[in-house]
Amino acid sequence: MQLKGKVAIITGASRGIGKGIATVYAREGASVVVVARTEQAGGRLPGTIYETAEKIQAEGGTALAVRCDVTNAADVDAMVKTAMEKFGRIDVLVNNAGGSFTYGKVLEYPEDRFEKVMALNVRGVFLTCKAVLPVMMKQGSGVIINITSGASLQFSIPGDTVYGMSKAAVDRFTIGLANEVRKLGISVVGVQPGMVRTEGIDLVLKGKEMDWSKWQKPEEVGPPLVWLARQTPATFTGRIVRSTDFGAVWP
Ligand SMILES: NC(=O)c1ccc[n+]([C@@H]2O[C@H](COP(=O)([O-])OP(=O)(O)OC[C@H]3O[C@@H](n4cnc5c(N)ncnc54)[C@H](OP(=O)(O)O)[C@@H]3O)[C@@H](O)[C@H]2O)c1
Repeated sequence: MQLKGKVAIITGASRGIGKGIATVYAREGASVVVVARTEQAGGRLPGTIYETAEKIQAEGGTALAVRCDVTNAADVDAMVKTAMEKFGRIDVLVNNAGGSFTYGKVLEYPEDRFEKVMALNVRGVFLTCKAVLPVMMKQGSGVIINITSGASLQFSIPGDTVYGMSKAAVDRFTIGLANEVRKLGISVVGVQPGMVRTEGIDLVLKGKEMDWSKWQKPEEVGPPLVWLARQTPATFTGRIVRSTDFGAVWP
């Protein structure tokens, strides 16, 4: 129970990596705020915030499902208020909500898709940090974990330029924010989860011949994030790490 007594907000937790992290955090004793937009099953992708919260509760954990579009400032502020009313503190924010929507060459990349990727991957992270920071500053402690991607620095799959650009912004934001709040007791780190087979990935790569043998399951991203959730600026901050290197290259 390494996270006993801690309260963690996980964005993008209706499915995929976020659901995996939320599940692992709850098993370690954290009270988890399950954040995403989907409330009803039957959409394009499986998973709702209530399903994740119910799975956690069925295992004996504590979870609160809160509907929130992270690109919308009013939604984000209301989500943080709801979390504070329920739990009274926020120890960890995992900015996991993110995605690519479309893979494609720059020349053919639709402008509206560009705006959507930037809104979700960049604006979303900015807004949630802005809303949670005052709480963490008052506490004098907190950990912010931004889920980024290896695509921020390197070519990953064809058509990933815009997605990689948005994640490069997340990396830079992480390092800058870590520096801003280091003396306030708040750690800020970026995590590249590696290749994880999720519902979103299945949709994006639909129809493609894939060797899934090297892909991780969502819950496998959990353990390094448990370790990160227990850090302070004195022990670990301002780093962009690969979750798959945990225990080997870092800590
Ligand atoms: N899977 C990989 O191999 C991989 C590799 C590198 C990095 N990543 C990163 O890891 C993160 C999770 O990826 P994933 O593969 O698990 O994605 P996914 O299966 O598509 O899940 C994305 C999650 O984000 C939520 N979301 C999307 N838009 C949102 C919004 N506007 N407001 C709130 N929540 C929103 C979705 O829920 P709703 O639709 O219910 O809102 C869902 O819970 C992303 O940041 C991705 O870039 C993934």
